[in-house]
Amino acid sequence: MSPITRRAVLRGTAGLAGAAALGGVASCSRSTGSAVGPGARAVAAAEDARRRAGGRLVTARLTPRPVTLDLGGRTVATWAYGETAPGPLLRARAGDVLRVDVDNQLPVATSVHWHGVALRNDMDGVPGVTQDPVAAGATFRYEFTVPDPGTYFYHPHSGVQLDRGLYGVLLVDDPEDPGDADAEWVVVLDDWVDGTGRTPDQVLESLRRGGSGEGPMGGMDGMDGMGGMDHGSMTGGMGGMQSPLLGGSGDVRYPFYLVNGRTADDPATLHGRPGQKVRIRFVNAGSDTAFRVAVGGHRMTVTHSDGFPVTPVSTDALLIGMGERFDVTLTLRDGVFALVSSAEGKTGRGQAVVRTGPGRAPLAGARVDELTRQVLLGPDLTPTSGVRLPERVVDRRHDLVLAGSMATYRWSINGQMFPDPDPLAVSHGERVRLRFVNRSMMFHPMHVHGHTFALANGGARKDTVIVRPMEALEVDLDADNPGQWATHCHNIYHAESGMMTTLSYRA
Ligand code: C2O
Ligand code: CU
Repeated sequence: MSPITRRAVLRGTAGLAGAAALGGVASCSRSTGSAVGPGARAVAAAEDARRRAGGRLVTARLTPRPVTLDLGGRTVATWAYGETAPGPLLRARAGDVLRVDVDNQLPVATSVHWHGVALRNDMDGVPGVTQDPVAAGATFRYEFTVPDPGTYFYHPHSGVQLDRGLYGVLLVDDPEDPGDADAEWVVVLDDWVDGTGRTPDQVLESLRRGGSGEGPMGGMDGMDGMGGMDHGSMTGGMGGMQSPLLGGSGDVRYPFYLVNGRTADDPATLHGRPGQKVRIRFVNAGSDTAFRVAVGGHRMTVTHSDGFPVTPVSTDALLIGMGERFDVTLTLRDGVFALVSSAEGKTGRGQAVVRTGPGRAPLAGARVDELTRQVLLGPDLTPTSGVRLPERVVDRRHDLVLAGSMATYRWSINGQMFPDPDPLAVSHGERVRLRFVNRSMMFHPMHVHGHTFALANGGARKDTVIVRPMEALEVDLDADNPGQWATHCHNIYHAESGMMTTLSYRA
């Protein structure tokens, strides 16, 4: 690392300490200080306000358990919500009450988080923050109103269980707007390691021992000494996996990348007819991989980001961070095409087949020129007028300085690591501005539970946004959903290694 960078890092750290001290004073004087917990009356009141006349009760059952999955030419022992990964597709209408009974048949405790849904706090599924863990052999009933239409997903909020086969999609339909697509495909992207010789827990162990998450060989090893010298710096990505769009692009090299639970060698097939307008709902359920997606021979029109509508914009490819969802439409051509999810900054990709007629499927790794043409990211999008966050004076600001050390594999927000951070205090009714400041050389997809923020300056509504190395990015939200809300990096290895805090309502 150059002396200049080093000085910048040190200066940044000093600045942060100052800011944190001020923040502490401010929140003492401005908040009476008691946390609005998941059991608070305000949480139940917010739920009552969400209930809609005519809302139905939609029930489902999830049974997380050990299973053997066929990924397409490869069989793995793993954990999943049933016989497949992704798990069951859950579907409701905005205003419905979703009741999901979870029957934990795993050998360990678990939880289910409803990613992106602005739900009641006590149903958010974060052990230690909103509920107790669901013990092995125990059951838990999640029951909450789904207020907003869109593409969401569910996964455990327990350790690195998400990097097993424990994930599924939740679609919330808009009773007022069925959309004009002729068909719909749900396309779930994942990076896969479980059952191939290492479990995600072993990957995490190896990262903590200073490896690269893949045992003795490792892209980061040469940089570890450097990372250990300076707690404000981060080597993630330097000398490791790199992307021109994201900088340091991950810590873990995966043997497989999946589309709808299948490898590129024996891919899933998406059927349609020439001329049909198809809506594709992309979900990145990966744990350490951003995906660049494209459909050979087609351009896509992006219509939604993290469930919320955006001004439609057409593109060749789209970059999707972990936890992000994008809906696109495209008009199908006649033939057989590759839908690819290239592991950004890594080697390998997922692939599916788009088929509207006879012909041979493209080979795994087939060239798709769209991948290297125009690539859109979340911050390139603008909201439709109906979901634009109204302009308002900001009542409360919080900085979230993102940093880490690869040597000890510790990741922090404002120099603090979960579960011991000072929470980000807010009061009900405030306009809150969060400023993510990435002081590491790696990208972090930052996710806020229970709210859909707006990217500053009239940007899209989202709940998960990629913050690139050394970038500062602001988002605004209205504090209208009382409770304690996990706020973290959706790189699950980072979150599990400290990069998590809470947005904490105070009363
Ligand atoms: Cu999918 Cu706390 O997140
Ligand atoms: Cu991260």
